[in-house]
Amino acid sequence: MTTTAPPSAESAAPRAARREMLDLRQRPRRLRRSAAIRDLVRETRLSPAALVYPLFVCEGEGVRREVPSMPGVHQLSVDEAVRETAAAARDGVRSVLLFGLPRNEDKDAVGSAADDAAAPVQSAVRAIKQEAPGMLVVTDVCLCEYTSHGHCGIVDGDVIVNDATVGRLARVAVSHAEAGADVVAPSDMMDGRVGAIREALDDARFEDVAIMTYAAKYCSAYYGPFRDAADSAPAFGDRRTHQMDPANVEEALREVALDIEEGADIVMVKPALHYLDVIARVKEEFGYPTAAYHVSGEYAMLKAAARNGWLDEDRAMREVLTAITRAGADIVITYYAREAARMAR
Ligand code: PBG
Ligand code: ZN
Repeated sequence: MTTTAPPSAESAAPRAARREMLDLRQRPRRLRRSAAIRDLVRETRLSPAALVYPLFVCEGEGVRREVPSMPGVHQLSVDEAVRETAAAARDGVRSVLLFGLPRNEDKDAVGSAADDAAAPVQSAVRAIKQEAPGMLVVTDVCLCEYTSHGHCGIVDGDVIVNDATVGRLARVAVSHAEAGADVVAPSDMMDGRVGAIREALDDARFEDVAIMTYAAKYCSAYYGPFRDAADSAPAFGDRRTHQMDPANVEEALREVALDIEEGADIVMVKPALHYLDVIARVKEEFGYPTAAYHVSGEYAMLKAAARNGWLDEDRAMREVLTAITRAGADIVITYYAREAARMAR
């Protein structure tokens, strides 16, 4: 007589084994099942309030000239910059960063046009404050757009002279404050310029004007399209004697520490995408409001790939801006600010 085990006993052992194998208490996929649950547990959220929109302001009226290497970005005369700011405000953008493009004949060895009250940046600040009073206005403080040689400072032979440059930068910052800028953003990387700017602003009773310093600005190939847009490529040499070596991160922390000591309110890392580790360390070590600049070349490479149909621009943009925010940036300066603000709303 053959005995067959009862069916339940027969399958009990393999079923237990199978159960043990698949009885996962933790199933991360539970939190990815629907848009609602993914949105619920998302750790990094993009907010329009965190975005800063750079604008290139030129002379003239009714000028809206697209930058070939930066599709969607234009050189704008003051009236057009005001219109663009108003349109950005409707998209939810709250801050703009202004770069000035003087006429070629107004460029000279010391960048005299940089602290001219009638120059494009100063005029645009006044006009934007008039027409879009809720908009935070940040101004770029540097000399490279204003010097005939395209360097960020005063040169002696092939040397960019630090201390003479710092004096000029402080005057430029005060001139932006006089026009009504809320925040000045020195992008030159001279030593001691944050302290000199702070002192000059305070002396001129602009103690409430904040400084967003390009504290860790790397010597990057990704500024190429910007130099087309701003006509600010150096006529000789490069920017390696003041901008940082991409290989260094400890040095970035020293730069940030110095700028904070000198009175910086917001510290910036630039570029963004290849420097996420720098952003993360700066945020972690100092806990200061930290900005990251998604620069012209980073924008241009996304645009170029999207235009070739090689990637989905909206998705790529969201991913990039999310990654920069996830790394620790509180503030993202980006030519995508309008699109990103619309997306984030
Ligand atoms: C000027 C300045 C540059 C950028 C911001 N301010 C270019 C440079 O240092 O050559 C780059 C911005 C961008 O690439 O989007 N000092
Ligand atoms: Zn410069």
